[in-house]
Amino acid sequence: MQFSPAKRSDISQFRVMNVMAQAAECEARGDHVLHLEVGQPATGAPRLAREAAKAAIDSEVLGYTLVFGIPELRERLAQHYQDWYGMAPPVERIAVTTGSSGGFLLAFLASFSVGDRVLLTDPSYPCYRNILSALGCEVVRLPAGPETRYQMTAAMIDAVPNLAGVVIASPSNPAGTVIPPDELKAIAETCHARGIRLISDEIYHGLVFDGRADTVARYSPSAVVINSFSKYFSMTGWRIGWMVLPEDLIPAVQRLAQNFFISPPGVSQVTALAALDAAEECEENREVYATNRRLMLDALPQMGFNKLAPADGAFYVYGDISHWTDDSTAFSSRLLDEAGVAISAGLDFDPDRGHQTVRFSYCISQPEIEQALERMSDWLARQN
Ligand SMILES: Cc1ncc(COP(=O)(O)O)c(C=O)c1O
Repeated sequence: MQFSPAKRSDISQFRVMNVMAQAAECEARGDHVLHLEVGQPATGAPRLAREAAKAAIDSEVLGYTLVFGIPELRERLAQHYQDWYGMAPPVERIAVTTGSSGGFLLAFLASFSVGDRVLLTDPSYPCYRNILSALGCEVVRLPAGPETRYQMTAAMIDAVPNLAGVVIASPSNPAGTVIPPDELKAIAETCHARGIRLISDEIYHGLVFDGRADTVARYSPSAVVINSFSKYFSMTGWRIGWMVLPEDLIPAVQRLAQNFFISPPGVSQVTALAALDAAEECEENREVYATNRRLMLDALPQMGFNKLAPADGAFYVYGDISHWTDDSTAFSSRLLDEAGVAISAGLDFDPDRGHQTVRFSYCISQPEIEQALERMSDWLARQN
């Protein structure tokens, strides 16, 4: 009998995981590696959140919860929208999820059918493309460059026929760029008017270095907002996030979530609830990123990385290295092997132009960033 995996599983790897594996090999042979490859804060969950988790483990059963999460967390999230954006969605529209990754799966399943065309930009976070492909959707990739801050515009969406969905992220990964508020509103209105489901990944909200990011929840009753405790709240491993759903999708997402997940993780919900009150610590982390960003944007151009995306937010700098190489994977691999600095090649984010781009993640400590910049500068000087 011959067995083989289902065709739908034949999606691209998430290559940054391979870089992490190569970095682990370097460390196993005794090298000291600086990790600028992975989009994961070096800090743990905020202190208040950790204390809440410890107390809950000792005093609560922590079983299944309601499918959309514990009421206290959903209510506190509604308040969070009031505090950050001046609008509170009804609690019924808030669904707590297993990270934003769980949110994408539910949102895409509830919104799109097999064969539906869904638009996203190159470059963008690879899992949108890969999850949509596994679900049998047709991914329509729109190249975006410096002219539009590597983002989509309403006019670009208007030029593409027969769309069921559009995925945006602001600030984005890998470019770290923000869609200006007027453009965000125009995108939301265009999608709503054309009956296109807009999915807005707002996972990097809170991490903008000049001003604040705006939520599409303010502009569209039909959009799905996806967010997470992984980045601003520094809680990647707790696998906890949330969605703000449009009214019409609530029953569908409820049914899917009941069957797929039963409920989001209990201990993570208690931890997340406390994290929402840990603004001071989250802001301290943001200050570190802001300093690191400044150091990177000062030093990288001096080394010859002279085509960088604007890096408005998140914790990434994305750069074109076509003046040096057409093989960003080999470039990154040598940088890791020879200088002990792990970065991501652009291929994950842009299957066409990613051979010529790299992404630096700067959510580690300031001394580590300084050391990484020094190592990169020395390594590049040795290349000539
Ligand atoms: C843009 C973007 N969205 C979603 C995710 C996944 O995050 P989560 O930990 O919430 O599943 C990431 C992770 O790096 C990301 O960069």
